Order: sequence, then C-alpha cells, then structure tokens
Amino acid sequence: MIRVVATTPFEGQKPGTSGLRKKVPVFQQPHYVENFIQSVFDSLEAYEGETLVIGGDGRFYNREAIQTAIKMAAAAGFGRVLVGKGGILSTPAASCVIRKHEAFGGIILSASHNPGGPHGDFGIKYNIGNGGPAPEKITDAVFERTKEIKEFRIADAGDVDLDTLGITRIEDMVVDVIDPVEDYAELMGTLFDFDAIRDLFAGGFTMRFDAMSAVTGPYAKAILEDTLGAPAGTVINAVPLPDFGGHHPDPNLVHAKDLYDLLMSDDAPDLGAASDGDGDRNLIIGRGQFVTPSDSLAMIAANAHVAPGYKAGLKGIARSMPTSGAADRVAQQLGIALYETPTGWKFFGNLLDAGLATVCGEESAGTGSDHVREKDGLWAVLMWLNVLAVRKQPVAQIVREHWATYGRNYYTRHDYEEVDAAAAEGLIADLRARLEELPGSRLGDLVVEKADDFAYHDPVDGSVTSKQGIRVYFADGSRIVYRLSGTGTAGATLRVYIERFEPDATRHGIETQAALADLIDISRSLPDIAGRTGRAKPDVIT
Ligand code: G1P
Ligand code: ZN
Repeated sequence: MIRVVATTPFEGQKPGTSGLRKKVPVFQQPHYVENFIQSVFDSLEAYEGETLVIGGDGRFYNREAIQTAIKMAAAAGFGRVLVGKGGILSTPAASCVIRKHEAFGGIILSASHNPGGPHGDFGIKYNIGNGGPAPEKITDAVFERTKEIKEFRIADAGDVDLDTLGITRIEDMVVDVIDPVEDYAELMGTLFDFDAIRDLFAGGFTMRFDAMSAVTGPYAKAILEDTLGAPAGTVINAVPLPDFGGHHPDPNLVHAKDLYDLLMSDDAPDLGAASDGDGDRNLIIGRGQFVTPSDSLAMIAANAHVAPGYKAGLKGIARSMPTSGAADRVAQQLGIALYETPTGWKFFGNLLDAGLATVCGEESAGTGSDHVREKDGLWAVLMWLNVLAVRKQPVAQIVREHWATYGRNYYTRHDYEEVDAAAAEGLIADLRARLEELPGSRLGDLVVEKADDFAYHDPVDGSVTSKQGIRVYFADGSRIVYRLSGTGTAGATLRVYIERFEPDATRHGIETQAALADLIDISRSLPDIAGRTGRAKPDVIT
C-alpha cells in the first residue's frame, strides 16, 4: 500500500556544491529526508518503470535514509532499485553502476569528507542518468519544490534486508541488492594494465592505502590486495565505520598526517595513498614526496597514455578554476584544450559527455576521467600505479622531471573555517566592489594586472554561472583567488587559493609556504581578513 503523507516545508533544503548537506540531527527530524527525496522526484520527469541506484558511504544514518529512499522510490513508480549491499556504494561506484545499468539516476547518501556519527554530517545527492551530479537546473528546481511541498508518498512496507544479495519486491518495484564492488572493479580492469601493476607488486613495490575507515576499504582490498597481489595489510582502516572511527575522513595533510609522516620517514613505502568518506577524493604521496592534487592532475594528464584505457590520448583537460595552472601547461604541450570550470564536479559532466575532455580535476584532491561522471579516488591511485609500473621510477623522480619539463606551479589553499557568515559575505562583496580599482595597484612588491569575478560559460549548453570566485592576477603571473565554500555545514568557510609559477628548475626545491610568503601576506591584507573575520591565520592550510 502506498501512503500519502501530509507534510510542511523545512527552511533551507538547498542543495549546495554536492547535494544537501546538514548535521545528522537535522536529517533526523521527522519528514526531513522524505521532504527532500519527494522534492527530487517531483523535479524529475518520466521515470515510471525506470531504474534508480541507491547507496551511500556507510556513515551514521545511511541505512535509515536508504530504507526511506527505497520505499519512496516504490511509491513514486520506479520499476527497479539497485542498492549496494550493506547500503554501500562509493560515489564513483554509484556513478559507474548508474551508467552500466542505464539507470534513470541515483540517490547517493554521503557527506563526503565531512565527519560522521550521531553529531556529524549527513547528505543526500541526486545524480542523473549520465552518472553525474544533477545540474543546477535540477537542483534549483528541487530547492523551489522543497519550499512548497505539501505531501510525500511512501510504500507501507517492511525494511529491505540490505545485507543479503538478491532480489525482493516492494509494490511493483524490484529491489536488487548488488555487490557494491563488482561493476566498479570490472571497469577499472578495462582502464588499467593490471598485469603490469601485478608485476610491480610482485617485484617488491610497497604501498600503504589508508581507507580512513570509510567507503573505499572494500574496494581497495578487493582490487589492490585480492586482484593485484599487494600484500595483505597494504590497505589499512579498511572497514567502513558509521563514525569513521571518530576521524575526519578527508585525505589531506591535516587529517591523513600519520600517512604523510610515514611517507616522510625512513620506513616509507614506495607509495602512500588515501581516499575520503565516499571514495571520490584521493591523496598521493611518494616516498619523501607529496604530490599536490593540482600537480597530480597535470602529471596524470602527461602520463595517462601509458594506461590501456587512455592510449589513444586525451581529448582535453578540464580543471576547476581555483585549481593550479599546472595542467594548462600539459594541455598546451599536448595541443589539446583546457577548460576552466567553477568549483564542483557537476560542471565537468557536459564536457565529458560531449567528448571535449577526458581527464578532469580539482585542487581539493579530486581527479577523474570520462569513465564515470564523478571524481574517483581509487581510479587516481590505480592511474599512478600504472604510471609507476610502466615508468619504473620513484614518484619523486617523476615529479622532479615533470617540473623540469613544464615548470612548477607553487600552490597552497588557506581555509578560514566557521567564520561568521555575514562577515565572510561582506568580505567577498567588498572585493567585488573593488574589482575595477585593483588593476595597476601595487601590493607589497607585486602589481595587480587584472581582477574579476569568475563567470563560466558552458560551451556545451550555453548556460552561464556567475559569481564563482574573485580572482586577482599579478603582473608576474601569480594569482590569488577568494571564494566561499558551498559544502560547509556551520557558518561560512572562506577559501583563499594562492599560486605562483616558477619556470626555473634551480628554484623548484623551496618549501611551498616560503615560496609563496609574499603572496600569502597580500592574501590576508588585501581584504583585511583579520579585521573582518577576527582571524589572523587560516585554520587549515593545504
Ligand atoms: C569542496 C571543494 C570542491 C569539491 C567539493 C565537493 O567544495 O572545494 O572542489 O568539488 O568540496 O567535494 P567547497 O566547500 O569549496 O564548495
Ligand atoms: Zn567525497
């Protein structure tokens, strides 16, 4: 039986950069999940009898939300749901399953790299049939719908047994509990030279992969250890936990510090890698050599042709605007296009669908390709393994040679977290108001060449997305970017991205913060961050 339940709207169910993301207790309010999912369904058309993919990163409240989503999908008239066993599907695996099974779309339960547990974060995101995040047209419609929703529909059925593979039914809908790893692992096997990577491990290559007690554990174990022969224990923190063991499942130098320290120590393995809560981010550290995500994108682009799935070369490279220009230099050398998009993976979808770009990436530890429509943590790790297996050089040497060839883009991001929202918005508004007066002005020893507020003109559908970040360019090619995070759940997060290009190989060994010291000072004084936010220093430097 299908129940039609009267409801009232909640304030602020606005999907951000990666769907709707709030604290768990917010999602636990009666009807909160139902209102949002119904608003998603109400914003879609012609899905009757179609397939919906459902899965999440295993965090606290994952199972409850999945049961609700399944029953609502049945009430909405979907013909079939594919749900990962245990409610598990990494974000890239969900994208893969949507594409492979030609589903209408998918619902992904995740708050990515944000902490989990009863007081942590939760999130719901809708992905469309190409496997990628819903475009703004849909997320805007969903938000409008959340403001006026009056009822939702849900099947009056018992919970689905998520821990047993196989098929059951709710109303007319088939519920298929699938192995969350299988389709994804198969796809990876078509892209990379698994034999070469197997030989690499057989030859004594050592690695540590930190799954951060999040979703990639089962994927990494199956692929790295069971398929590619990496020794047992290569994958650590491999069991997804509802609270990620109390850690922040964000693979950066702050939250994966133990891994970083190991790779900088005398006992370092050849490669260290990690992924985040939902498996779409990656961290790559060679022995004694951290690879920044912006550099990793450039190095992957420069070497991808060694992997079977990319041997025909790349069609183009896309990067988010704040990501460093390192990939631009590779694109130039390869003679292919470079696309600069707003922050967030959804802007890559059109470029990938249209065959304009093959690889894409963001400075926030996201890299991926046209194999799915999400960034993909394990994909990046396998790509590096494939490159290492073919080039037979240490990571540090590949990095050095890359810089020597293309020059080095020194790069850092400074985050000011949980800042007063009005103060942060005022800071950006003030910069925006000064865009015309900035060019020509001298800041420290540097002269501003141009300043703008990034607007993206999508070359495929012609849509324009404006106000995507204040960019200040200096005459020496350096750049500072200011933008507010769209994924935070408390106050505002001001992100400041600082970059300088250094062509001279004799100057490639400088510590990053030192190499950027003058720009860092300017980044603080130009909008008077301390005066406006009360913060003399950023909370997180990556
Ligand atoms: C952040 C990152 C962005 C990424 C997003 C989702 O968004 O900066 O690159 O796509 O998380 O993982 P932000 O909080 O900056 O809006
Ligand atoms: Zn993520």
